[in-house]
Amino acid sequence: MCGIVGQISNEKFVITDTVNALKRLEYRGYDSVGVATMEGDIYKDIGHISPFMAMLPLVATNAAICHTRWATHGKVTKENAHPHASFDGSIFLVHNGIIENHKELKKKLSISGIEFVSKTDTEVIAHYIAYEIQSGLSIVDAIRSFMGVAQGTFAVLLLHKEEQRIYAFKRDSPLVLGILDDGFIVASDIYAFSDKSPKAVFFDDDEYAIISPDSYEFFSAKGPIQKQVTEVTWTGTVEKDASFEHYMIKEIHEQPAAARRLLASLEGEQSKNMNELATIARSIDRILFVAAGTSYHASLIGVYILNSIGVEAHTLIASEFHNYMLADEHALVIAISQSGETMDVVKAVKHARSKGAKVASIVNVPHSTIQRLSDFSIEILAGQEICVASTKTYTNQVIALLRLAQLMGFETDLSTIPDDISKVIESSEAYVMELARTMKDTHDIYIIGRGISYPVSREVALKLKEISYIHAEGMMGGELKHGTIALIEEGVIVFAFIQGPDYDMLSNIEEVEVRGANVIMIADNPNFSPDFLLSLGTMSAFPIAATIIGQLFSYYIAKEKGLPIDKPRNLAKSVTVK
Ligand code: M6R
Repeated sequence: MCGIVGQISNEKFVITDTVNALKRLEYRGYDSVGVATMEGDIYKDIGHISPFMAMLPLVATNAAICHTRWATHGKVTKENAHPHASFDGSIFLVHNGIIENHKELKKKLSISGIEFVSKTDTEVIAHYIAYEIQSGLSIVDAIRSFMGVAQGTFAVLLLHKEEQRIYAFKRDSPLVLGILDDGFIVASDIYAFSDKSPKAVFFDDDEYAIISPDSYEFFSAKGPIQKQVTEVTWTGTVEKDASFEHYMIKEIHEQPAAARRLLASLEGEQSKNMNELATIARSIDRILFVAAGTSYHASLIGVYILNSIGVEAHTLIASEFHNYMLADEHALVIAISQSGETMDVVKAVKHARSKGAKVASIVNVPHSTIQRLSDFSIEILAGQEICVASTKTYTNQVIALLRLAQLMGFETDLSTIPDDISKVIESSEAYVMELARTMKDTHDIYIIGRGISYPVSREVALKLKEISYIHAEGMMGGELKHGTIALIEEGVIVFAFIQGPDYDMLSNIEEVEVRGANVIMIADNPNFSPDFLLSLGTMSAFPIAATIIGQLFSYYIAKEKGLPIDKPRNLAKSVTVK
C-alpha cells in the first residue's frame, strides 16, 4: 500500500506530470498525497489526488518524488503525509512499507537532539540519513548504513537537495524503474509509466540505485550490478468508459471479454506453461494454495474441484500460512494474487521456498514480485483492475483453476463460460437494481452456501462489506445452526447460493425462514424456484455467475447509499504491509 513515484529528466517538467503518474497508482492508497522537488519545495495535503492537483502551483523541476498514502503509523494528517524532510532540510523522501524498529531508531536520534514533526515511522529514515551525512558519510554510505540497521519493509525514493539525482532503495516492498525517451520514472509498480514506456528494470531486495537524467546504476551490498531490462506487454485498457459511472461496474461488465481472452490464451500461448504446471501438480503429494481476500475465495474453489477428482489440495489465508500449513519438498505451493504484490502472500511464498516447496503463481500483474518469485506463473489477463474491489480478476482466477483441474482430469467444458456470464449480467442486473433500492438501510446480511457455493458466500460477503459497508457473513449452510442462527430475526436478509439439487440447503433456508428471515435464493435448479435462476451451459460457470449476482448487489446497494465505490474507506488495492 502507498504508491510512490519519482521522475527525473534533463528537460524541466511541471510537478503535475509526476503527480499524474502517481494518480495511476492511487488504488494503492488515498489517505493523503504529497510531492517534493530537488529544489526542496514540498506540497502535501490529506485526501485524494485530484483535488490536490487542482491546487498545485505549476512548479517546474528536473527531479521530483511523490507519494499517495495508506496510513499505517500516524493518523491521516498533513504532518504525517509524505514527503518527509530531514531535520536540516537536506533530504526529502517518500516511503512505502513499515520500518519496524522505528521507535528504537527514533530514540537514538532524539538523544542527539533531533526533533520529529510527524508520528510516522518514515520520518526516521530522513533524519537517520541526514545525521549520518553530517557525521561524515557520503550519501550512498548513509543509505547503506540505514539499510544495515533498518528492520521491516521499505521502498524509498530520496532527493538530496539541489542534486539532480534520485536515490532509490528497497526491501520487500516493490519498486521498478521505467526507462523513458527523456529520463526515468521510478515507482511502486509498472502502471505508473505504462502509458509512456514498456521498458522496465525491477529492483530486487536490498538493492539500491542512483538515477540521473541520462543514466542509472544499480548496486547490491557487494557492489555494482547489471540489471536486465524487461519489455512489458499490457493487457486490456483502463480508460474510463463514459457509459459506466464507476470502474467497478465497468469491470463487472468486462468479465465476458476478460474470460474469453484468458481461455484463448490458456489454449494458446500459455498452454505450454499450463501443461507443465499440471505435470508438476500430478507429480507431487499435495497442492497448497496461498492467497488473501478475494484470491483466497478463488483458491477455495480450486480446492473443491481438485479434491473432487482425488487430488489432495488445501488452502490457507496467507498471513497464517507459515503457522498452519506444512510446506516442504513434497508440496506444490500455488500463490494466487491479483496484484502479485500482497505482502502476506510474498512472505508465505518466501517461507515455502525456504522449506523446499516448488512455487507456482496465478497473477494478474505481469512481472510482479510473486510472479518473479515463482518457478511457474500463469497470467490471468484480466487487464488492469482499477476498482479496489476485485471482480473480473476473481472470475479469471477461477477460470485458470478450472483449466488446471481440467488438465488433471476434471471433466468440463469451459468454452461456454463467457456467454454464461453475459447472460447472467443481462438477465439479472435490472432486478438486482430494484432489490438493492430496498436494501440501502440494511445493517446485516447473512450468506450461505454449501460445496462449491461456500466460497461464493464468502466472496459475496466480502464485496458487501468493502463496497456497501454492510456487515455481512458468508458461511457454510451447515454451520449456521451452530451459533449464528441466534442472530436471525424478523426481516433479516439471507442470501442462499445453491448449486444443483442440494436439498440440505433447502432445509437451511426453511430454518431461517421460520425465524423471520427474508431469503433471496440464487440457484441453477429451476425446481427450487429461485429468485435468480442461473441457466448455465456448464456447472463450472456456477461459482462465477453466482458471484457476479453478489458483485451487482454490492455495487447497486453502495450506489443507493452514495458511497465511494471505487475507493472505499480504509482500503487499498495492493496490500503491501503485513
Ligand atoms: O492482489 P491480491 O489478489 O493478492 O489481493 C488480495 C486481497 O487484498 C484482495 O483480494 C482484497 O480482498 C480485495 N479488496 C477484494 O475485493
